[in-house]
Amino acid sequence: MTTEGLLDHVRLTRVLSDTPLAEVHDRAIRGALTRGSGELPWLEFERARYPEEALVLARDLFCKLAGGEYSAVALFAQITASLALNRAPIDFVAASARVSSDEIRHADYCLQMAALCQGSEVTVEVPRAALETDIPHSLSSAELDFLMLKYAAVGETLAAALLTECRRCASDRLLRALFTSIVADEVHHARLGWYYAKYRAERWSPEERFALSERVSEFVVGIEHEFSRGRDAPAHASDAARALGVLDSSTQRQVISDVMNSEIVPALDAIGLSGSLAWAQRRRVDAA
Ligand SMILES: [Fe+2]
Ligand SMILES: [Fe+2]
Repeated sequence: MTTEGLLDHVRLTRVLSDTPLAEVHDRAIRGALTRGSGELPWLEFERARYPEEALVLARDLFCKLAGGEYSAVALFAQITASLALNRAPIDFVAASARVSSDEIRHADYCLQMAALCQGSEVTVEVPRAALETDIPHSLSSAELDFLMLKYAAVGETLAAALLTECRRCASDRLLRALFTSIVADEVHHARLGWYYAKYRAERWSPEERFALSERVSEFVVGIEHEFSRGRDAPAHASDAARALGVLDSSTQRQVISDVMNSEIVPALDAIGLSGSLAWAQRRRVDAA
């Protein structure tokens, strides 16, 4: 995997080194070194079974996911360093360190899947800002708490819910295996976020809790809008798009609404961060 700089973006393509580490990476990708997901049936994918419109949407989905997963590598590297430098309990540091290695594997899966959908290698442009880290300058514990809540607790819970729905829709054997493998990891990432939040919540002063609650509310009010647009296929390709795990807008909105109401908002309330209040004040999307 290499990145080549542009001004505001990093171009991501799937390139391996010619050192023995490429083989170690390959074993990790094949499932030999990871949580019981086993090898993915890459060779079973038959591009010709799907109409071009569905393949284009699936390619777009996996390019977008690849960029997000790749950015998460850098984000969790920063979170891990900050946990260590803020002397967090060692199990949190260890769990966070594992997240980065999961995310680079997810990025690789998504690049490979995007290439299969396109029929050739893909290049993904990742916003540079999403990749920049400043590890020598440790995050303050308040900043660390915010990042953990936004990206690990809420972000990974949203990701797990969306990818679980992708898996439920997908009938293609490779896609089902791929989503199953990624979701299994995202659930652990979300758990890290919520356990960390619970641990910290018992230690926040009223002022710290209030400041964090304000910052969390700022992004919670925008979640409905942020995820309101899925990938809507033309009618003749919509079954094929679902078979590839592509979510249309109305399905995606329903997933977000369900997971916010049943999991995220109650969890934020439980640690005193006024999730209900923020969600009630969200920017709403009119039903299409
Ligand atoms: Fe991931
Ligand atoms: Fe994740």
